[in-house]
Amino acid sequence: MARGRLRVFLVLLLLFILACLSASSVQRLYYLFRLPFVWRKSSAYATISQERDHFDLTFSSFPANYSTEDAGLRPLIPAKLHHIHLGPNPPAQEWLTARADCLKHHDSWETFLWNDTNAPQFVEEHYPHLYDMWKSYPFMVQRVDALRYMALDKYGGAVLDFDLACKRSLEPLRRFEFVAPAAHPSGFSIGMMLASPNNTFVKSMIESLPIFNHIWPLLPYVTVMFSTGCHYASTVYTLQTNRSSLRILSGTSDNPSMHMLNGFVNTPLFRHLGSSSWHTKDARLILLLKNVELKLVFVAAVMIFGFFALLVWCIRSARHRLSTRDVESHLQSPLVKPLFKDT
Ligand SMILES: *[C@@H]1O[C@H](CO)[C@@H](O)[C@H](O)[C@H]1NC(C)=O
Ligand SMILES: *[C@@H]1O[C@H](CO)[C@@H](O)[C@H](O)[C@H]1NC(C)=O
Ligand SMILES: *[C@@H]1O[C@H](CO)[C@@H](O)[C@H](O)[C@H]1NC(C)=O
Repeated sequence: MARGRLRVFLVLLLLFILACLSASSVQRLYYLFRLPFVWRKSSAYATISQERDHFDLTFSSFPANYSTEDAGLRPLIPAKLHHIHLGPNPPAQEWLTARADCLKHHDSWETFLWNDTNAPQFVEEHYPHLYDMWKSYPFMVQRVDALRYMALDKYGGAVLDFDLACKRSLEPLRRFEFVAPAAHPSGFSIGMMLASPNNTFVKSMIESLPIFNHIWPLLPYVTVMFSTGCHYASTVYTLQTNRSSLRILSGTSDNPSMHMLNGFVNTPLFRHLGSSSWHTKDARLILLLKNVELKLVFVAAVMIFGFFALLVWCIRSARHRLSTRDVESHLQSPLVKPLFKDT
């Protein structure tokens, strides 16, 4: 009898938990958690390769003064270079030097520096319906991330993190419609993105911001990554129906991580100073929590799965008990008996 009550209690508890998670948040969680499992397949046809694109992934065969147009290709990405720096502290000297390197290698490009003066004006003017949400993001990094997508949508071009020191021009990539470097272990990095203006995917990353705008209590890293960061962008990528023009810059078959920007790396395009856009004090704290938080989220996912399994088990065993009681009461008397006579 006590076991029966326990089961009823468990079922009610599970139903309560399920009711707390609305259908849309279950769906959002599903899309976010499945990313590592579907990424490889999602990006398989989009990865830039020597064989398919006749593109030299080492960039060594492109001369410094290479021009997409002179090579007989139509540049789809405009020659525009965006950097974003928000927050009260001025950029560190090493980031200013890194940006100067990039400007030097793109001297004919139009350059943009988004800061606390022009960024809010831009968002309010062009994305008024998102302005309140953008302003109320709890973390500055989220405002930086959302602004990347908006600047690319409006102007197109390349948006680069402040800590990427260019080693050469991004010009050869202008033949594509959208390019971002592969990230470890899945998805792509938003530290470098190139896109044509009015790109469908970039628009989709902007339109999905309100849907994924969710604060994970006590988990600042997860909040940023799931609402505006790389994990968010890559999840929206997997939801696109046609990804054939959304190219991922990865590497050669013998060095697939050639262009990945994790940590202090030296790629054919950049020297990475290794701190990404996370350069304020609170952002560093957020980054410090990264591994702990990802483990917590994994444990939570396993527990949720366990709850579902338990729910199914409870329902099945309750059904089984009912049906055996049925059969027993019919066996005891051939006449019609009230089912739950003993209550
Ligand atoms: C690029 O530079 C090389 C020499 O360094 C020169 O021969 C070539 O004409 C230049 N090409 C363009 C498109 O300016
Ligand atoms: C932002 O940049 C503009 C133009 O470069 C400058 O006038 C303005 O003072 C800057 N604002 C801040 C907050 O740094
Ligand atoms: C996907 O988009 C490309 C161009 O971006 C187009 O050529 C192709 O036909 C599209 N495929 C489908 C199935 O719509």
